[in-house]
Amino acid sequence: MPSTPRTQLPPRLLPILYFGTAHVALAVAFAAVALDPRGVSGFFYHARMLGVVHLVTLGWITSSILGALYIVGPIALRVWLPATWLDYAAFGLVITGVVGMVAHFWIQDYAGMAWSAATVGTGIMVAGSNIVRRLRGASLPRAVSAHIVLAFVNVLGAATMGVLMGFDKVHHFLPGFVIANVFAHAHLAAIGWASMMVVGVAYRLLPMVLPAEMPKGARLWTSAILLQAGVSGLFVALLFRSRFVWIFALTVVAGFGAFLWQVIWMLRRPRPRPPGLRTPDPAVLHAGASFVSLVIASGLGIWLAFAELSPATLRIAVAYGVFGLVGFLAQMVVGMEGRLLPIFAWYWAYANTGYKGPVLSPHEMPWRRGQELVFVLWLFGVPALAGGLAFDAVPFVSAAAWCLLAATLLNTANAARILRHAWRTPV
Ligand code: HEM
Repeated sequence: MPSTPRTQLPPRLLPILYFGTAHVALAVAFAAVALDPRGVSGFFYHARMLGVVHLVTLGWITSSILGALYIVGPIALRVWLPATWLDYAAFGLVITGVVGMVAHFWIQDYAGMAWSAATVGTGIMVAGSNIVRRLRGASLPRAVSAHIVLAFVNVLGAATMGVLMGFDKVHHFLPGFVIANVFAHAHLAAIGWASMMVVGVAYRLLPMVLPAEMPKGARLWTSAILLQAGVSGLFVALLFRSRFVWIFALTVVAGFGAFLWQVIWMLRRPRPRPPGLRTPDPAVLHAGASFVSLVIASGLGIWLAFAELSPATLRIAVAYGVFGLVGFLAQMVVGMEGRLLPIFAWYWAYANTGYKGPVLSPHEMPWRRGQELVFVLWLFGVPALAGGLAFDAVPFVSAAAWCLLAATLLNTANAARILRHAWRTPV
């Protein structure tokens, strides 16, 4: 690995603050469901479920994305993202907003929730504008930076919609049907922000993880164009409860199809495996399992786009939400983090030796047994949670939540074990 001048290393503290927040949020989300599975069962639109959803979507997924960008930047996007006071201020706004949003959802104080929503939204946009500004100077394929920029544009839209819905719960000024507004917000956030970012960054990170040849060229624009056209149309069609939702749902699925096509292209062009990389690699297993969840969520989403609203569609909608948000997005973060943190820890461990070494290889830092157990617990947890919530099978919801909580605590122990190398100074 090249010796990156200390000034160009990824910041050490800020990514760990974001990942730390993310791990606590995911553990609290699964603990809340495990301790009171009935509290989140039944029809999904209630304050407790809204709190748990944002612990997963803002706490785990969004905080991990923001933390990862400061590491992925210098390692895979050819752009150095230093942590300035503005970046730390943005983190402060994000963590204050997430805690405030979830706590106020819990006590059903919607005015407090709405102000917290504005706080986290502002934090994401401050971090985002700082990252996008630096991305402009990077020698990165335009198609990849387009995914990242579009993702931040979409989260601005989703956050604005979220804040408006938050204040609407107090002042009742928004037109339209509440559930339709919520669906529009949720899809713009989950597809336009989190999925668009995962797809864009995966074009650079997956080749490093597999390892495989890096895809390039104009064909990488296909997923950006289809996902953006699809999610923009879906947002408007859901808002106005249009009967043309299925057109945009199919466009979004075609966008994911274009991405999966590039993943197959990579799998067909493997690169020599670095010494010490073990098989099967938990990062690749989690990525594979999250793609299976993406395919299931896409199938359920298309079905929901055609189906008339009924008790059955509401059940399927919950399973669709779990496979999309937990099975695909949340699990993809587990996979990527499992490979990103050892590389990050190795960079700092090597720098701490004055670039003389020796340091442990990034493939020897993780807790192997723990990672295998984490994967098995996710393998059971995701379908059990989806089925349990969809069919009100409380024992399944409880078992799934305890498994996913155990997986999150084991994964946190593994992350701490890896990250200690970044702070270690050799004797
Ligand atoms: C700053 C960002 C965000 C803000 C301010 C926000 C705000 C909100 C609010 C206020 C609601 C409830 C609306 C109501 O009760 O009428 C809501 C619902 C929802 N949001 Fe967000 N949100 C944000 C980010 C996200 C993200 C990133 C995701 C997904 C990746 C997401 C997914 C959802 C979902 C799925 C629901 C519906 C949950 C349910 O019905 O149980 N949100 N959001």
